[in-house]
Amino acid sequence: MSDHNGAPKAPKNVSITIDGVVTQVPAGELLIKVAEDTGTYIPRFCWHPRMKPVGMCRMCLVEVETPRGKLLTTSCTMPVNEGMIVETESDVVTKAQEGILEFLLINHPLDCPVCDRGGECPLQDQTMAYGPGESRFVEEKRHFEKPIPISDIVLLDRERCILCARCTRFSEEISGDPLIEFKERGNTTQVLTFPDEPFASYFSGNTVQICPVGALTATPYRFKARPWDLEAVESVSLVDPVGSKVSVQSSQNEVVRINGVDNEYTNQGWLSDKDRYIFEYINSEHRLTVPLVRRDGELVETTWPEALEVVADRLGEYAGEEVGAIGGAHNTNEEAYALGKFLRKTLTTPHIDAQVGDGLDPQFAAAVVPRATIDDLERARTILVWGQDLKEEFPVLYLRVRRAATELGATLVVVHPRRNGLDGDAAHTLRYRPGEGADLLRKLVNGDDSVAHVTAALAEGPVVAIVGRPSDAENPRLAESVAAFARGLPDATIMPLLRRGNVFGALDMGLAPTLLPGRRSVAAGRADLEADWGPLPSAEGKDATGILQAATAGEIKALVLTGTDPVNDHPTPGLAEAAIDAAEFVVAMDLFLTDTSRLADVVLPVEGFGETEGTVTNLEGRVQKVNRKVPGPGQSRALWAIVDDLTRRLGGTSSFPSAQAIAKEIATVAPAYRDITWDLVDWGDGRDGVVVPGDGDASVLEYVPVAATLPSTGGRYALHAGRSLYDDGVMVRMSPSLAALAPEPSVAIHPRDAAVLAVSAGDAVRVTGDHGSAELPVLIDDTLAPRTVAVVANLPETRILRGSAGVEIEAIR
Ligand code: SF4
Ligand code: SF4
Ligand code: FES
Repeated sequence: MSDHNGAPKAPKNVSITIDGVVTQVPAGELLIKVAEDTGTYIPRFCWHPRMKPVGMCRMCLVEVETPRGKLLTTSCTMPVNEGMIVETESDVVTKAQEGILEFLLINHPLDCPVCDRGGECPLQDQTMAYGPGESRFVEEKRHFEKPIPISDIVLLDRERCILCARCTRFSEEISGDPLIEFKERGNTTQVLTFPDEPFASYFSGNTVQICPVGALTATPYRFKARPWDLEAVESVSLVDPVGSKVSVQSSQNEVVRINGVDNEYTNQGWLSDKDRYIFEYINSEHRLTVPLVRRDGELVETTWPEALEVVADRLGEYAGEEVGAIGGAHNTNEEAYALGKFLRKTLTTPHIDAQVGDGLDPQFAAAVVPRATIDDLERARTILVWGQDLKEEFPVLYLRVRRAATELGATLVVVHPRRNGLDGDAAHTLRYRPGEGADLLRKLVNGDDSVAHVTAALAEGPVVAIVGRPSDAENPRLAESVAAFARGLPDATIMPLLRRGNVFGALDMGLAPTLLPGRRSVAAGRADLEADWGPLPSAEGKDATGILQAATAGEIKALVLTGTDPVNDHPTPGLAEAAIDAAEFVVAMDLFLTDTSRLADVVLPVEGFGETEGTVTNLEGRVQKVNRKVPGPGQSRALWAIVDDLTRRLGGTSSFPSAQAIAKEIATVAPAYRDITWDLVDWGDGRDGVVVPGDGDASVLEYVPVAATLPSTGGRYALHAGRSLYDDGVMVRMSPSLAALAPEPSVAIHPRDAAVLAVSAGDAVRVTGDHGSAELPVLIDDTLAPRTVAVVANLPETRILRGSAGVEIEAIR
């Protein structure tokens, strides 16, 4: 097994002396960091290891010997060099630290008893450890209105601000949303947003986490708990498949905060606000707490034994081919494995899909080689992004790509049907009309003059190609063709993009019609797996779309839905409703009564994020541990335990005493996972995750020209159906702080089309697709190709348009 972590080359060491102790440290590194790494903590406020030093607060003063005597200097701006002699605790340093703290506290309010930072406040802690003990200042402190909301989530208490510029630097350097800045000068300097622009950043919670005082606070946590009430475990965010490391913190068995944890290889400490504040759904009063069965048309509460008996009896009526299963992408690997084994072995169905018709070929997504790691972005000369808008759908990956382009000098090429979040940092942007991506790709393959500047950029390796499906209306095979082209670029690696938290883990565990556990195709892996599991269906199964179509046609008679909402998520509106309506029996295992699960015959409450323990696999194939912090609500149970019970009731042998036992079986059955143990990824060398080797059956071998990417638009407008970070998905809907942030629906059109239609920005138009119409206000977007419309398609008002090859527009007068 290779850990693929790409250990950086060790820099040259120099010898320095800190407080009389000689030590070897990397040349050029900042003194504050090497001191900490070698056991000497130097107090600080403004320095943050992930941002450029500014030397604003002066708290990190130390004495350094120079040819002209000792120099009192800031250690956060001082690179180390050979022979440096440093004192961090001399009388001069101590006096300077006392002075700085006394100075900082002149105007600082005495809010500690009601301040969210109290108990975990660097200013409090450092005042106790390094402060003067008492202040000589008796003057009136300055006062500001407190607190003022600077966004829907973040409050600012200017009296508490110590002007360290962590928040402003984060916004400018890391997230690229410089919406928060210093205003005024001298005694009246304050941090503020611009008058007419709220702090509308997808990353605002990071400023709250890194603010060294209680100046920035977040409404979802404000006044919820005190640090001494909190218990925490490390885990992994399941909002998207980036695998951001988090600390899940609870008070009195309720998750009250999620903070970012620094994993060098994934999120480097940062989170999107969705990762951070989505926890509210865990505590929602709408969580399912008891099993429900349909009686006389109504879902009514029942007991577990009765619910399981109904499910086992009904599923037992059907032959394997008559059962279809969708879901599992929000579960752990262990749950996905147990579910897949139940479906393939006990129910003998091959019709299994963790995706919902809006992704990519599972064999390609799970097994493409050479697979890129996120960390490859640190070394890339060129990055090609041809897929979803990363800022909207993979925000932490967006931060990593942005860092590579803005800090590390990579040339960024963004190909997308319209302006997207990375355009501002891209060296080259290429746009195309939805459905015509194949033509553009052909130009790149053929070295067409019109794209020569991009071809030249892509000739500089190492290249990382991030490929996905920019829109539900886009042919998924386009991404494979882009990947196949990219494989021919110098030193190229490929990163496929799929939606949903643990979708890559689910595919790796065999929740796909063409894959068995361990990224093996059905054809190549069945004999091996049968040695462990016994007889299995020999054919490949149907994908989610095929399952729903077959259910609608009466060929599939029973549906098993696990944490999935195809009524909302499948690109073809109405297909899932029709399938569920036609199916004879539907069981849903879910956290909530969603638009899908409320149509089921039996609904079983399952435990979710923060409530289960196991492993997950991110988009680079990195396996990390997720942990349980709180019990699930009511009678909810772990998915693996439910399917184990069902297995027994259907005459099989119960095989799993615990989730950890499943992990052990995965290691023996799935070749790619053979060295993964919970100990390794929880506490061992694999604490930052272990990238499982990509030795699956890759489906992409050479450039596959995509002839016609979509059915003809029939002379209609082409549709780009993108997505926004905040949407109508059930987890956002059940998180009050985020639900309000979903964008207003609109339709973007090119100015020329607006002129033809005689409409201006804000005017209402009727947009009619293959499945129905939506009335939407117009946005003018000159980055779209003419005769193209763009909608954010994961909103209730626009969902009806998804999956349409083309649309008509008419002005509503
Ligand atoms: Fe107290 Fe720290 Fe809050 Fe200031 S920021 S009021 S020192 S807890
Ligand atoms: Fe620093 Fe916080 Fe003030 Fe921003 S608000 S400058 S992070 S103290
Ligand atoms: Fe060095 Fe602030 S930490 S000046």
